Amino acid sequence: MIKLNVNGEAREFEGDGDMPLLWYLRDLLTLTGTKFGCGKGLCGACTVHLDGQAVRSCSVSMNRLEGANITTIEGLAAQGEHPLQIAWAAHMVPQCGYCQSGQIMQAASLLEGNPDPDDLQIDDAMSGVICRCGTYQRIRAAIKSAAGGGA
Ligand code: FES
Ligand code: FES
Repeated sequence: MIKLNVNGEAREFEGDGDMPLLWYLRDLLTLTGTKFGCGKGLCGACTVHLDGQAVRSCSVSMNRLEGANITTIEGLAAQGEHPLQIAWAAHMVPQCGYCQSGQIMQAASLLEGNPDPDDLQIDDAMSGVICRCGTYQRIRAAIKSAAGGGA
């Protein structure tokens, strides 16, 4: 049995230890805000936080998660009031929206470690999260806005 914490809730997992975390989140916990894109760690759509760090949940097996703290987009802020979520809305970042939970989780991890990133640092941190709608400029603006303490 694997004991872990997801969005502040204690959980126990007794299934196949090779199951990707993404499957567990979406199929067993129905936390479907985290998206499946490539399944190979290449697109970033499945990004969540593992002990505060952004990880690709399609590429993390359950057997690595004993004692882990996982945060998904559903757990980032109780009412969607994280500064990034407010900035995202103010800058109307999403287009189709598919990549956006991964974008926000990656950005939240960036700001956690670097509260005032410059353009290069933003681009560097965000480069692994693909947006087929090309919202990159709005993403950067929203991150800078959130880092400034308001939208
Ligand atoms: S689905 Fe995980 S990185 Fe693409
Ligand atoms: S908003 Fe459509 S993929 Fe990013």
